[in-house]
Amino acid sequence: MTDSRRPDKHDTASLAFASQAVHAGNEIDAGSGAIRTPIVMANSYALPEDASTISWSGTDVPLYTRNSGANQLGLERKLAALEHGDEAVALASGVAALHAVFFTLLKSGDHVVVGDVTYEAIYRLFAELLPEKYGITATFVDSADLDAVRSAIRPETALVHVEVIGNPTTKVTDIAAVSDIAHEAGALLSVDSTFTPPPLFRPLEHGADLVVHSLTKYINGHGDAMGGAVIGRGDLIRRIKADAMVDVGGVISPFNAWLIMRGSVTLPLRLRQHQESAQHVAQFLQADPRVAFVAYPGLATHPQHEAAVRQFEGRGFGGMLAFAVDGDSATQDRFVANLRVVTSAVSLGHDESLIVHVAGGVDAGPRVAFYPEEFRTFGHLRFSIGLEDPEDILADLQAALDATFGEAPH
Ligand SMILES: Cc1ncc(COP(=O)(O)O)c(C=O)c1O
Repeated sequence: MTDSRRPDKHDTASLAFASQAVHAGNEIDAGSGAIRTPIVMANSYALPEDASTISWSGTDVPLYTRNSGANQLGLERKLAALEHGDEAVALASGVAALHAVFFTLLKSGDHVVVGDVTYEAIYRLFAELLPEKYGITATFVDSADLDAVRSAIRPETALVHVEVIGNPTTKVTDIAAVSDIAHEAGALLSVDSTFTPPPLFRPLEHGADLVVHSLTKYINGHGDAMGGAVIGRGDLIRRIKADAMVDVGGVISPFNAWLIMRGSVTLPLRLRQHQESAQHVAQFLQADPRVAFVAYPGLATHPQHEAAVRQFEGRGFGGMLAFAVDGDSATQDRFVANLRVVTSAVSLGHDESLIVHVAGGVDAGPRVAFYPEEFRTFGHLRFSIGLEDPEDILADLQAALDATFGEAPH
């Protein structure tokens, strides 16, 4: 619904990333002339005079908010532009988006190769729920070991699912190489890129068939809305919309779609700062003898540092790191309690720095068996570096280390 006062806002394909982040998916409102798409809190949209011309399961024109609404459609256009995908579907949360992929693409008897470091809901889905309820089997595999990925493939493998930088250990997967393995076997590749939003990395350009985001994280960036998205080939996205959106129904609310649309405008600026500060923080922590280990792909000591340098081509290493201070579970808790600027809370990719202590050992559940030994010994602190002044983050860490251990020897 563009009007004659401005050029067509849909056509942002030729623009650079920062310009797309501002303009893609936005429209001048035909009714009011507002230059930002307003929040349209309507469940239903007016039908044409001859309603026989429309498809009740259609998802491309505003009809009913479970099929498509103005804010949802705008956000989907924007996400497709930012990820260089054909089309996108926006859903209620990252987990709803992941479920939509698996529900749509898999059937009983199928086998899935899943990265052994993935968001915890993925572990439970593939370890328990999908096998028990639907007879879908899975092999968890070290996705940084290409021979292991190759050997896990079976004739009935329908899908490979990995994270670019894995939550929580920061394991880095070579997406182009895994895509070749999946496609040689006739399987599809879905990639959760929540830790690596564009322009840092675009899995579709490296062979992935579908990319999934928790929009709750970096793409919204302000910690005030939940959402999820799948972006990729038009035929696959249309199947996901028909099967998992219209007929299962985990849609995003217009208000959340609007908030995420607004938050994503500053993604290029925010990501630059998250990454710059994360590199400083990782180096600072690594240099302190009271810190047991630091996992960040931008550190030369990271097991996949070289693969990360090759894959991310100088665009950064993300804003997430994992570390532990030198001590037991109670010591990790004491350290976290001593922080004043960094907030102890789950989630990530927000404007404020967030830290969460995840216990190691048996308390962490079965998937911890896949983590490196130091994660099992100390537990870990998952740390999402925020947009505070980096000097304030470093001073807060220093003060909390001093309060927990006494001052470091010089
Ligand atoms: C990598 C990754 N994928 C998916 C999700 C799930 O997203 P949501 O919480 O929006 O459902 C998360 C949440 O932390 C995540 O870190």
